[in-house]
Amino acid sequence: MFVVVGVTGGIAAYKTVHLVRRLIGEGHEVHVVPTADALRFVGLPTWEAISRNPVTTSVHDDVATVRHVSLGQRADLVIVAPATANTLARMAAGIADDLLGTTLLATTAPVVVAPAMHAEMWRHPATVANIETLRARGVHVVGPADGPLTGGDSGPGRLVEPDDIADAALALVARRDLAGLRVVVTAGGTREPLDPVRFLGNRSSGRQGVALARAAADRGAEVTLIVAHVDADVRADAAHTGIALSAVGTALELQERVTDAAATADVVVMAAAVADYRPAEVATSKLTKEANAGRLVLELVENPDIVAGLAAARPAGQTIVAFAAETATGDELLARARRKRERKGADLLVVNEVGWERGFEQVENEVRVIGEGGAVLAAATGTKRQVADAVWDAVLASR
Ligand SMILES: Cc1cc2nc3c(=O)[nH]c(=O)nc-3n(C[C@H](O)[C@H](O)[C@H](O)COP(=O)(O)O)c2cc1C
Repeated sequence: MFVVVGVTGGIAAYKTVHLVRRLIGEGHEVHVVPTADALRFVGLPTWEAISRNPVTTSVHDDVATVRHVSLGQRADLVIVAPATANTLARMAAGIADDLLGTTLLATTAPVVVAPAMHAEMWRHPATVANIETLRARGVHVVGPADGPLTGGDSGPGRLVEPDDIADAALALVARRDLAGLRVVVTAGGTREPLDPVRFLGNRSSGRQGVALARAAADRGAEVTLIVAHVDADVRADAAHTGIALSAVGTALELQERVTDAAATADVVVMAAAVADYRPAEVATSKLTKEANAGRLVLELVENPDIVAGLAAARPAGQTIVAFAAETATGDELLARARRKRERKGADLLVVNEVGWERGFEQVENEVRVIGEGGAVLAAATGTKRQVADAVWDAVLASR
């Protein structure tokens, strides 16, 4: 989606850096349009670097592309955060003497403003009237929140948290093509205990699984997310309205939880990295060097194949999506993926090549989706959110 983020001159402008990063992370093309005053708070290089697009405040730059109207015309969504009292007044009056002003007049996309100012400015009849005018024109007003303000005051006027602004804005333009579907997604890496302090784990960050759950929730599905170990920032992403979260540790715990949840699901997506083996015995006290001088031999037993179990017992109409992370490349990668899909009885298998520096822990991913008869139904490269949307498109197309 093409998103214009207007930034105006308040202290809270620094929080909009996070908003832009979040939108970029979800695969959107973001163009930041600051006011001249906004640049006194956060500089132009920051906006250019994080948005990866040129940034200007002026209608006279890059005139050949007719920028003063083209940004607004191309926008699918416009967010102004923070929105100062001054900018709200200018919007209400339709003033267009900078790039943000012309962009706001040229757009027909949904416009979201997130006001931030001192409580007195927010309560002033002029601001109240401006907000009323904007609301009457269909502008969506998010916040402000109540709380501590710059300078030690407190009251209504605080910028709503950037993630909440993003959620509210994206919800306005979200596709709802998964509405009515109950989906179960697993994410992260299982941990198989060796003794009370150690485990066998893997490098899965949980990023792809959580992106799948968030994409499904944004697209209207009812989502249960079963998380094994995930990185801390990924866990924060999983806390999303519309996602019922459930945490597990080992492969056996994950099997029990997902089997229960799958009983009433329309789609099960097994993106978790599940240990193939677990220690045959878990020591009740810490394994010591004293007791294992020079060498320690661990005996492992195979974990159940959770996907195969789900596929064998699936209710009619349920779609099962398996994931495979393979270190093979080219034809061998696809051949392995096809064999795995057959062996497990999954409807779709999403395969990605992993290695020391590929797949795991990365923000970007590259996958192919294998379907009936081993056909490659989709190929997707990009952020894990873009990949997640491509996987859901393939799921919808296959149902
Ligand atoms: C330190 C500082 C913080 C400010 N914070 C805010 C604010 O949070 N909200 C607001 O409406 N104005 C705030 N202002 C005043 C605006 O910067 C001023 O009204 C400016 O003209 C806004 O221009 P713009 O809307 O074109 O960005 C602040 C000014 C200063 C110096």
